[in-house]
Amino acid sequence: MVIILSAARLKEPEETGSEGSLNIKPFGGMIMARFTLPRDLYHGKGALEALKTFTGKRAMICVGGGSMKRFGFLDRAISYLKEAGMEVEVFEGIEPDPSVDTVMRGAEAMAKFQPDWIIAMGGGSPIDAAKAMWIKYEYPQTTFEDMCKVFGLPKLRTKAHFCAISSTSGTATEVTAFSIITDYTKGIKFPIADFEITPDVAIVDPDLAETMPKKLVAHTGMDAMTHSVEAYVSTANCDFTDPLAIHAIEMIIKDLVPSYNGDMAARDRMHNAQCLAGMAFSNALLGIVHSMAHKTGAAFADYGAHIIHGAANAMYLPKVVAFNAKDPVAKKRYGVIADYMGLEGKNDDEKVAALIAYLRKMNDDLNIPHCIKNYGADSYPCEQGFVPEKVFLERVHDIAVNAIADACTGSNPRQPSVEEMEKLLKCCYYDTEVDF
Ligand SMILES: NC(=O)c1ccc[n+]([C@@H]2O[C@H](COP(=O)([O-])OP(=O)(O)OC[C@H]3O[C@@H](n4cnc5c(N)ncnc54)[C@H](O)[C@@H]3O)[C@@H](O)[C@H]2O)c1
Ligand SMILES: [Zn+2]
Repeated sequence: MVIILSAARLKEPEETGSEGSLNIKPFGGMIMARFTLPRDLYHGKGALEALKTFTGKRAMICVGGGSMKRFGFLDRAISYLKEAGMEVEVFEGIEPDPSVDTVMRGAEAMAKFQPDWIIAMGGGSPIDAAKAMWIKYEYPQTTFEDMCKVFGLPKLRTKAHFCAISSTSGTATEVTAFSIITDYTKGIKFPIADFEITPDVAIVDPDLAETMPKKLVAHTGMDAMTHSVEAYVSTANCDFTDPLAIHAIEMIIKDLVPSYNGDMAARDRMHNAQCLAGMAFSNALLGIVHSMAHKTGAAFADYGAHIIHGAANAMYLPKVVAFNAKDPVAKKRYGVIADYMGLEGKNDDEKVAALIAYLRKMNDDLNIPHCIKNYGADSYPCEQGFVPEKVFLERVHDIAVNAIADACTGSNPRQPSVEEMEKLLKCCYYDTEVDF
């Protein structure tokens, strides 16, 4: 059985062989699917100035550890909002892979300040944390567990509207219905998923992305690539999401590696490309690459590092393509992706092989390892990574169980058993071939 995640349509995995056989969730007594994006999206260099046009009384800006301050974007945002006549308070110090504790602290600060605008600025981490703070601010009785009920949030915007300004080119959380929060007591990332937390306004200003260090460009870029590929083969894909996913892929394969190597025009285009990928996956949902990334990311934190989200996706995506390609519809769709990428192949099997080879080459070009065994604590390839083999094998069963339960698994084109998920995770550890 598939878990129905949303008003977005989901095909039964076992029915994906015949296109068009849908399992549509009855919605308010009617049959419908939903496609939701922010009401406004300001884009292009200097788009940050859109903040000057906002109307409201109090804006709370949520930021991370300091990059937005260091590069002057925080001061600019404050001055634009003041110019718009608003009182401004800053909640800073949101850590990468934000915790439930941080969410609760931020919500308390909001309860004191009573903002009518929440302005989240930075990478996926501060924006995601601010989304969860927003829920708690609007509904103080809500627990983190309540928030994690997929597509089960109450109506927001009774107290504040939400604007997201992304400074990394990957998560696209500025346009998505998702927020990823880590429960460090369990060592697990939980996705909060609901169109209620799709921001009201997104600002996609490439100036903010130009300050990213190389490694961040690589990881966030492969996150965006994974979003597009997973959205395109998701069982919830539709006519509205397909063109976004395909165009994002076309842009990413052209611009990601040059952006990594310092081409700033390519860097600017990548900021749009990742956003298109976000529009696609927010409505088509994702697949098991993300389920596995969510459940391995913090699983070895006691050994001194995280497997960074984008790097995890980059390593697991080629393996999952091989696994999913056993589903005939997914195989055909990977073939279409390969065609748009201009890859050689006489039939879909050859195209799938070419796609896998291309993705692996991208990892090489971006200095991302191919497997967990070779993933160093600094995220670079090395002989023996930070996750010891013995520890991985001790934990792999539980990780597999958790990955299957992840909200992203329901829309994957092929539903793995726990045993298959364990085997897949082992392939991702050792970089062995997926032949099942
Ligand atoms: N909500 C979604 O739809 C979604 C999708 C994918 C991933 N995620 C989540 O997002 C998080 C990752 O977000 P991220 O990859 O954007 O990174 P991040 O927000 O965790 O930031 C990583 C580091 O980059 C720095 N940084 C950010 N922007 C910078 C810039 N322009 N210049 C210099 N330094 C900068 C930050 O200060 C931080 O130290 C993970 O928790 C992941 O699970 C969310
Ligand atoms: Zn992602």
